Order: sequence, then C-alpha cells, then structure tokens
Amino acid sequence: MKKTILITGAGSGIGRDAAFALAARGPQVLATTFNEEQAQALRDECLQRGQALQVFKLDITDAADREKVLPLTIDVLINNAGRGDSGSLAEVAVNRIRAVFEINLFATLELTQLVLRGMIARSRGTVLFVSSVAGRLPVPFLMPYSMSKFALSAAGAGLRAEMDQLGKQIQVALIEPGAFHTGFNQAMTERKYDWMQGASYFAGQAEKMKAKEAREFRFLEARSTDSIVAQIVKAAEARRPRLRYVAPWIQGLGVRLARIFGA
Ligand SMILES: NC(=O)c1ccc[n+]([C@@H]2O[C@H](COP(=O)([O-])OP(=O)(O)OC[C@H]3O[C@@H](n4cnc5c(N)ncnc54)[C@H](OP(=O)(O)O)[C@@H]3O)[C@@H](O)[C@H]2O)c1
Repeated sequence: MKKTILITGAGSGIGRDAAFALAARGPQVLATTFNEEQAQALRDECLQRGQALQVFKLDITDAADREKVLPLTIDVLINNAGRGDSGSLAEVAVNRIRAVFEINLFATLELTQLVLRGMIARSRGTVLFVSSVAGRLPVPFLMPYSMSKFALSAAGAGLRAEMDQLGKQIQVALIEPGAFHTGFNQAMTERKYDWMQGASYFAGQAEKMKAKEAREFRFLEARSTDSIVAQIVKAAEARRPRLRYVAPWIQGLGVRLARIFGA
C-alpha cells in the first residue's frame, strides 16, 4: 500500500521542495497550500515537471480548511507552514507575537489533533513539526518567531513522550532547519521596518541593522534546500525517527556548542 503524506505550506520553499522529493520516492503526497493562487501555481509546476502531487488549499488557521483532513487516511503529517515576524521584545506589538503563535503553534496543534484522531484509531502514523534552530537558541530581534519555534519544539518533544506512553506506534519528530535562502528570512526581518521607522528605541540603528542582517543571511543561508529536504525524507521514512533532524549540519553543531557553553 502506498503511504499518504500530507504537508502544509507546500506552496513555496522547503515545503514545496520536500513535496516533490517525497513524491519521487513513491508515496502519495497531499501538497497543501496557504491559498488558491499557490495551489494553482503548484498544479502548473506538477504538469511542467511531470510529477503527481494532490494539491489543495489548506490555510491551517481556517477551521473549515482543517476539517478537510478528517476523511483522509494520512500516514505522515508534515507541519511545515509557518510565518515569521521580528522586532525588539521591548516594543513589538504583542498582537504581532500572538499572530505568529497562532500559525506556528496553535493552528499547527489544531491540525495535528485532527490528524492524530485517525492515526491513533489506526495505531500508526508519523507527525513531523518543522521548527527551527531559532527554537533552540533565542535570536535577538527575531523573538516573535524564535519564541514560537521554542514553543513548537517543546510541543513536539512533549507529544512524542505522550504518544510513546500511549503505545500506539505514533512517531513524532522535529525538523530544525538552519538558515535557507527561500525568502522567508528576508520577509521576516523586513516586517519590523514597517513600524520601526517612527517611534522605535532602535530607529537610529535601523539602517545599520538592515545592513548587518543582509550580511549575516548572505553568509549563513544555504542556497539549496536539498540538505533539509533530505532530513525530512529521512524522518518521514524512519520506523522510529530520532527526536531532532537538523541541517545544514554545521549550523546544528553551532547550536549544540552554543547551548553547551550556556547560550
Ligand atoms: N528558510 C529558513 O531559513 C528557515 C529556517 C528555519 C525554519 N524554517 C521553517 O521552515 C518552514 C518553511 O519555511 P520556508 O523557508 O520554506 O519559507 P516559505 O517559503 O515562506 O514557506 C512557508 C509556507 O507556509 C505558508 N503559510 C503561511 N501561513 C500559512 C497558513 N496559515 N496556512 C498554510 N500555509 C501557510 C506560506 O505561505 P505565504 O508564502 O503565502 O506566506 C509559505 O508557503 C517554516 O515553518 C519556517 O519557519 C525556515
């Protein structure tokens, strides 16, 4: 029997690349997107590539969209959809932090609970959460995002232990990407400049901060998503996945060392 894998946020970036890579290995891939435009673009890309994905819109914050998973038999759920926001915790509007948590944590958990119903009833399934190395090390000025990924990584680790105790062969693992050049980091870091131009404690430093961020991402970001896609494939196919899958490995090592030395 072909496995069925559902992935969220597959309209772009890591999610789209993982969807094609997984489908090439045989399973049926339900590649879900934030909106209809992305869904149509992904269908067009399937035609161009001659690859079959089953594509539909699933905005994870929309309850009616989430219910689309109820009649499906899903073997692997990949919670990849995410959003970033930035700015100093001293002044960023808390509603902006809430909005990030709404997507990266709450809606992700709501979808996961619906999919788990079927998995627990069938006594098998794998749930992957695409978190971040920013969920292991706090990243100043990216804290709205970083905190949401800390919470998501904690949720994944806790759910894994709970599912182990349930004894139903439900596997849970975390995917922790370092920096990849998908446009996600640029959109996230830019968001704070919408409001920082005016009365921000850091308004006088904004130009310097922009230049530093651009430099750092130029240096850090992997140009291809291949290494993290390979980790997603490994976790999705493992009978007993590890808790964490990190790429690029050098960034994973950097995070581990920083934590050992007290960061
Ligand atoms: N790129 C990195 O350096 C990096 C590092 C660590 C972790 N990650 C994580 O990796 C995952 C994929 O990121 P990426 O780099 O591939 O960026 P991306 O291309 O922006 O992928 C995120 C996808 O999620 C979609 N999305 C946003 N809100 C959604 C919602 N409510 N329902 C369904 N889909 C939604 C986005 O749609 P829109 O484009 O329309 O917003 C986008 O297609 C994210 O969880 C991100 O936090 C990325």
